[in-house]
Amino acid sequence: MAGLIPQDFIDDLIARADIVEVVGRRVQLKKAGREFKACCPFHDEKSPSFTVSPGKGFYHCFGCGAHGTAIGFLMEFDHLSFVDAIESLAGAMGVEVPRSESDQPAKRYDELFSLMDTVSRFWQDCLKDSPEAVAYLQKRGIDGSTAKRFGIGYSPDGWSTILDKFGQSDEATERLLATGLIIRKDNGKHYDRFRDRLMFPIRDPRGRTIGFGGRTMGDGEPKYLNSPETVLFHKGRELYGLYEARQALRQIDQLVVVEGYMDAVALARNGIDFVVATLGTATTHEHLNRLFRLTDNVIFSFDGDSAGAKAAWRALENALPQIREGRQIRFVFLPEGEDPDSFVKDNGADAFVGLLDKGIPLSEFLIKELASQVDMNSIDGRARLAETARPLINRIPVGVYRELLINSLAEAVGLTAAKLEKMMAASSAATDRPTQASQAFAAKRRRPSASGGPSVVRRAITLLLNHPEACQKLDIEKLAGVRRAGVDLLAALIETVQSEPNITTAGLLERWRHDEKGRHLSKLAAANVPNDDEFDPAAELNECMQQLALAGRKERIEFLIQKQRLTGLSDDEKSELTQRV
Ligand code: CTP
Ligand code: MN
Repeated sequence: MAGLIPQDFIDDLIARADIVEVVGRRVQLKKAGREFKACCPFHDEKSPSFTVSPGKGFYHCFGCGAHGTAIGFLMEFDHLSFVDAIESLAGAMGVEVPRSESDQPAKRYDELFSLMDTVSRFWQDCLKDSPEAVAYLQKRGIDGSTAKRFGIGYSPDGWSTILDKFGQSDEATERLLATGLIIRKDNGKHYDRFRDRLMFPIRDPRGRTIGFGGRTMGDGEPKYLNSPETVLFHKGRELYGLYEARQALRQIDQLVVVEGYMDAVALARNGIDFVVATLGTATTHEHLNRLFRLTDNVIFSFDGDSAGAKAAWRALENALPQIREGRQIRFVFLPEGEDPDSFVKDNGADAFVGLLDKGIPLSEFLIKELASQVDMNSIDGRARLAETARPLINRIPVGVYRELLINSLAEAVGLTAAKLEKMMAASSAATDRPTQASQAFAAKRRRPSASGGPSVVRRAITLLLNHPEACQKLDIEKLAGVRRAGVDLLAALIETVQSEPNITTAGLLERWRHDEKGRHLSKLAAANVPNDDEFDPAAELNECMQQLALAGRKERIEFLIQKQRLTGLSDDEKSELTQRV
């Protein structure tokens, strides 16, 4: 099974594979500067436009657009599956793919599930033996029966508790690795991922433990450590607490979506069982699919801080395609500085339910938020509102709801619906254009656009993919609060390169092979970024980051100024504004 090959192994394989050798054994290559050329094996041509770049570990045909890594090449050229391509590449390099051949896939999955379950139960036992952990739970207001219901445990301190107890054979160690419970070091030795943490098992809808979240009980960083992506665990899909909610409820009338493990557990402790939490990620389409399969009534309750507001907006964006008649999507904003956990502790369950009842509908949130970003009294402002609303409204399925929303939006702007729709149509001509033209690095380098728009993100990602070595010193904090398409992907790429300094272009592409957002990366990796001595990719990247940080700051200030005028600012926001201006 594909997923049972550890990601570490794939990283390593792709970093060490020589793409020139892989391709060269199947296609006659000619050296051309730093690269190699050939007539493209994937389409008919007379002059060679197929290029192999050993530095990037990547091939690309300028004629037909075919491109990929050594693994991708084997898949295309030898018509292999992903796993077979890895086998083939590993075989050619004389290394063995770390997984046991004899086992049937289904059995191997069963073994992984059962390992997770065993470890989860082991950690629950450890909790009972740790007065510190018990005291911490007490301090957080979690009683024994709630802890038991959620299977909360404690991973003891020490580098090899799990390894020693559950990793006696090579196969057992492989299973620990495949489930993310241990980490492999460069020297091939292993150590426990979770040490001295309160452990929250993450269960699938059938109740099988598929991952863990571990919280420090002190000030250690990171506050929460989660299982990595594994064959069992896909963070962007799972909802913490869903299994527990279904166990507790006979009928699910509504589901509240919160941000944190503790929020879900604390609400359940207080008798509010219809709660699930996303796992430190934005609310994805998959989350929403899952939610709406269970109920028509979804309420998002995010923290009363700027991160919470951002998360709410992202949830809104992803929920738009799911809007249907009969479905209700509402948002509850907690007082500044509160999360559901602290709120229910301070104010009680009834007060929280009261807040839920007062949640604002998606349409209202959308209009309020858009209106707060523009000057509604000026013609310019209204035009901008139409412009920003257009792509959002276009994501809503055609139907009554969409019509109603356009009507309310028109009313808010003081226009007729017909006029607004006309404005939205007009703005489409202006905003659709730049996306295509922005891939051009080839002949002339363009300056990033002054507004720090999407092309800066795209440019940064292109630079990073082509020169991963250039982002060691980038300050990822600069991207905090920047609200641009692709910024999350950029940040994730930077994080990956910084934690794995030797990763190549091909290595990055393989990391994102199965990721929706990574689908377009190979196109950017194929861009012809200068590779001469005068070109300083680190400086260019730095400049992109500056631009983005600046744009983010400007946006925030504009937002605060608008908000000040419309609804007033909280004390924190006031001081933030004074500091920023
Ligand atoms: N999270 C994470 N990694 C971090 C911080 C947070 O994965 N380093 C995720 C966790 O799922 C966490 C959620 O984001 O539950 C919300 O984070 P935060 O609001 O910081 O945590 P709380 O749930 O409020 O946790 P606590 O009350 O224990 O501080
Ligand atoms: Mn909290």
